[in-house]
Amino acid sequence: MKEKKMNCHYRNTISLLLCLFITYASSQSVIQQITNDFNTNPQQPNPNVEEEMHYLQKHQEISSRDYKLSSSNTLKGLRERPPSTYSLKMEAFHRVLNSTEHYETRPFSAGGYNWTLRVYPNGNNKDGGSGYLSLYVAIDKSSLDASAHQEVYADLRFYNFNRNQRKYFTIQDTDVFRFNAFKTMGGFSQVLPLDTFKDLKNGYLYDGDHSEFGVDVTVPKPFEKSELLSFSKRSDRFTWTIRGFSTVTQYTYSDVISFAGRKWQLGINPSGSGSGSGKAVSLFFHLLANQRTGAYEAVYVLAKFQVLNQLKLGNIQMELENWYGITSFGWGFSEFVSFDDLRDSSKGFLVDDTLMVQVELEAISTTKYFPS
Ligand SMILES: *[C@@H]1O[C@H](CO)[C@@H](O)[C@H](O)[C@H]1NC(C)=O
Ligand SMILES: *[C@@H]1O[C@H](CO)[C@@H](O)[C@H](O)[C@H]1NC(C)=O
Repeated sequence: MKEKKMNCHYRNTISLLLCLFITYASSQSVIQQITNDFNTNPQQPNPNVEEEMHYLQKHQEISSRDYKLSSSNTLKGLRERPPSTYSLKMEAFHRVLNSTEHYETRPFSAGGYNWTLRVYPNGNNKDGGSGYLSLYVAIDKSSLDASAHQEVYADLRFYNFNRNQRKYFTIQDTDVFRFNAFKTMGGFSQVLPLDTFKDLKNGYLYDGDHSEFGVDVTVPKPFEKSELLSFSKRSDRFTWTIRGFSTVTQYTYSDVISFAGRKWQLGINPSGSGSGSGKAVSLFFHLLANQRTGAYEAVYVLAKFQVLNQLKLGNIQMELENWYGITSFGWGFSEFVSFDDLRDSSKGFLVDDTLMVQVELEAISTTKYFPS
């Protein structure tokens, strides 16, 4: 059997009339043939990474990180967009270099806290930074509630402008940095080797002795809205016995079916839709209107459809795996059972002018929205 995707809106006049009829009969139902190109497997969320922490003493507060996550990773690269939180331009880097261990900016606010940017032009050797340029931010302690052991998690991205590339060299970590009253600094002790940074050929120092540093401080809040897409196995079954099948001349619906808390209907086109037109009976499975949690819910369906063989010679069996609610509320088979098979009553499908069709729901998705 040929199975291809098509929307009945774009077919010939007969199908168009059929569409109009179906639209009239079930305003939200659109017939489409089954498609195999939608093999979506749900993505599992990453399991939580195991945290291994150790706390630093107050006097050791110079460390760039006070804990390490197994999956934590430093990322470096180049980008054109300037820093979004704070930028520091220095016009005489060597004066800073010769005169102080680190330069600290004025406070700036980000994520509801005050921060400063610290540049260690000779590297922070208390944090393994000697021979490197080191960049940190320090959180303003007074904005933290020490007695409540308040902790602040921040995403940090540091910038160092490269004039040759006209881009910012950036350094960041895959994980957040944690700040509290005893751990007020976070950043990178080894941003760039000083030899690289100071070599005028490389473009980090330009126009004589200029340089630019920057930082993005983002204090991410845990999400407040979410959804959970879950899948459950089912075995709901409905048999549609169509007596006097030869008198069925129009698209006809079964009784309303209740499967997995939602209402459905089978629909049959005795003269065939799409590729089945004029040679096979078409069968569709419709989700009725207002059967979803929200107008945005997509409902995954795995279902088995059968033409029951009344002479026990073997059923015609077809499988449907598709999503309802994205592009369509009705999926099915344009060539469900051929006219040839029906005409010959010795084949067992149409016996005493009776056709028996069965649908079995095998799996379905549910989406929970929080808050609903
Ligand atoms: C910084 O110190 C180095 C070595 O001591 C010296 O050569 C250089 O002139 C100084 N630069 C400035 C701007 O003071
Ligand atoms: C940040 O600093 C400003 C100016 O010093 C101050 O008015 C403000 O209260 C501070 N914010 C926090 C959250 O500490």
